[in-house]
Amino acid sequence: MANVIVVGAQFGDEGKAKVTDLLAKNADVVVRYQGGANAGHTVVVDGETYKFHLIPSGIVYSGKTCILGPGMVIDPKSFLQELQALMDRGLDDSNLKVSNTAHVTMPYHLALDAAEEDSRGDNKIGTTKRGIGPTYADKCARSGIRMEDLLDKEVLKQKLDWLVPRKNVVLEKLYNLPPMDPEAILDEYYEYGQRIKKYVCDTSELIFHSVQNRKNILFEGAQGTLLDLDHGSYPYVTSSSPTAGGACIGAGVGPTIIDRVIGVSKAFMTRVGEGPFPTEQTGEISEQLRQTGKPWAEVGVTTGRPRRCGWFDAVLGRYAVRINGLDCLAITKLDVLDEFDKIQVAIAYKGRQSGKMYRDLPSIGSSFQHMEPIYETFPGWNQSTSECRSFKELPINAQRYLDFLAGELDVPIAIVSVGPKRDQTVIIEDPIHGPKRVLSKVATN
Ligand code: GDP
Ligand code: IMO
Ligand code: MG
Repeated sequence: MANVIVVGAQFGDEGKAKVTDLLAKNADVVVRYQGGANAGHTVVVDGETYKFHLIPSGIVYSGKTCILGPGMVIDPKSFLQELQALMDRGLDDSNLKVSNTAHVTMPYHLALDAAEEDSRGDNKIGTTKRGIGPTYADKCARSGIRMEDLLDKEVLKQKLDWLVPRKNVVLEKLYNLPPMDPEAILDEYYEYGQRIKKYVCDTSELIFHSVQNRKNILFEGAQGTLLDLDHGSYPYVTSSSPTAGGACIGAGVGPTIIDRVIGVSKAFMTRVGEGPFPTEQTGEISEQLRQTGKPWAEVGVTTGRPRRCGWFDAVLGRYAVRINGLDCLAITKLDVLDEFDKIQVAIAYKGRQSGKMYRDLPSIGSSFQHMEPIYETFPGWNQSTSECRSFKELPINAQRYLDFLAGELDVPIAIVSVGPKRDQTVIIEDPIHGPKRVLSKVATN
């Protein structure tokens, strides 16, 4: 029995879904604990590519309980569309559950996300415009609508009659947009509620009973550490807590049930949307990393935006190890580096104004914008890794590169992914029962 959190250790899109899919084989329950339709999770199985936004990627296996947890924000229209598309492809919804207390993304959240972004001009965040920020803002303001509210027309009407006129003031007066009709929203969203009703339950209790019955629970993170509302590169973050601590809050479990936290990082780094990215590359290197034209090119799954690309950042890697308490790492997309003559890794930062050197960041404050990465350069391997299935089969320079990353981050690498398919994987150590990080006694700074 093991309860495991899979968390993005960079800016999202690290390949979490591929790793979740690998681990889900031995899981009984797969839980999404935060975020909403901003996520885009890709799983490639038996020649089929699945792209998930709200539904846990564990649904590709039949018989696993898949939970949309209370920490999520759910756009019911997107949920129903995504589910229908998956069922049309033969996937089974009989073990799908939706938390009764997850918040609902409403049409005014979508309109406000887009309007707020546009009004920010050059200071825009680059959101996915899936209504994430406004939905979580209403949750915090205690004005949110929860899944269970969609099931009771009277309650929903009461809430909408108070809420929609207030949203309309903002839409009309601040953004010069047309007002919304509470009656029309009531009818449409109550209807969605009726269609989702059969999945809605107290998922926290369900997980608790699964834990009591010694089931294996897998917590599937969305986004990544550096997009975390509290610990990411604020304000260029999402509005939830993708980090490991968020799994407990977002799923409704106590931290004592967690056995392992597995971080997922690419062998390089990408970011979609705005915000600081110290190791970002432009020109040829960026294009080569982005792999234009290939089916797995670096393009956002949800928005289709090209991802910004750069070198692996060990300073941020160490930060992710610390913030999440990572036990081990999965490194994905090693194959993308196959044709580079030289590969760089940022091992420290130098403050552009202060000249001060940092191996670790105390926090990601405003100074993060002014950091110059200090690189170490490695020889590439100029050889395909996509057919490698063991550490020994990897080219020696690839082995050295991975050993270096593990040493720099002081965390074992358990999994290396060398392609998008399930079997394009090198297991170095058992990610769940193998060696895990041992806390070093001396601070490095
Ligand atoms: P997630 O949001 O973290 O689940 O990641 P995404 O699905 O947004 O993006 C990861 C992309 O990389 C997807 O297209 C995956 O199919 C692909 N992918 C995952 N692992 C590998 C790998 O090892 N090599 C290559 N070339 N592609 C990979
Ligand atoms: P997965 O789960 C990468 C980014 C957006 C934007 C910022 C805020 O596939 O890794 P939001 O719509 O959440 O308010 O946008 O966060 N972002 C992601 N970037 N992967 C994701 O999800 C993301 N979800 C949000 O691009 O910069
Ligand atoms: Mg993604």
